[in-house]
Amino acid sequence: MASGVFGAMICFFSTGKDFFMIPVITIDGPGGSGKGTVSRMVADIFGFHILDSGAIYRVLAFAACKEGTDLADEDVLCALARNLDLSFRPVDGGVAPILGGQDISKEIRNETTGSAASRVAALPRVRAALLDRQRAFQQEPGLVGDGRDLGTVVFPDALLKIFLDASAEERARRRFLQQQAGGISQPYEEILREIRERDDRDRNRPVAPLVPASDAVTVDTTSMSIDEVVSTVARLARERGIGS
Ligand code: DC
Repeated sequence: MASGVFGAMICFFSTGKDFFMIPVITIDGPGGSGKGTVSRMVADIFGFHILDSGAIYRVLAFAACKEGTDLADEDVLCALARNLDLSFRPVDGGVAPILGGQDISKEIRNETTGSAASRVAALPRVRAALLDRQRAFQQEPGLVGDGRDLGTVVFPDALLKIFLDASAEERARRRFLQQQAGGISQPYEEILREIRERDDRDRNRPVAPLVPASDAVTVDTTSMSIDEVVSTVARLARERGIGS
């Protein structure tokens, strides 16, 4: 009798794999596709935590540049990745990266650091060194994470995987406006060139390239408003039982 009940429980647990897991929504896509803003707004709707995985690569690149590390030196970068004194502090409308006690949000939000991040992110052992740090963000009541490989590598069992896309020109335009609002001025043409280069490196690297997971829903945001994208993602999440 006891073993019968136990057997039934095992059967119930094994068929209800996702039921007992902390829900994760992954939002992957190229730079400027709106991942960050959409993630924050979706996380707000469901009261979930946020993982800005790009910020982790950006902070690593920033720290490496500050120390004068060669961005191709995988050994040194791996050691730096493992020992990075990085935390995230909730701030109005998101989270701020704190490196060694200092808020470096502004320092990492330019295309130059983005390009450096994309270079260090192409190194397989550096990516491996950052995996546990990213997975530790999966906390109750749930997580919205954005990046390039969150649905393919970091959280392959995520309940909902979104791939956000938009034309390179539209993404450069958004980055340009975003930077202007943040008091940074960089010419549009330069941003567009850097975005194209970064796309090319992120999509064509051999490890964890930027590709939609086979079970991801692709949303082209080129002519959508942020609110439309957010309500699309929230609807898909509710269809998968998130927030109910
Ligand atoms: O999302 P972002 O623009 O802040 O990311 C900066 C760079 O970091 C991006 O060009 C590639 C890298 N990255 C990555 O390789 N994997 C992730 N999950 C997130 C970012």
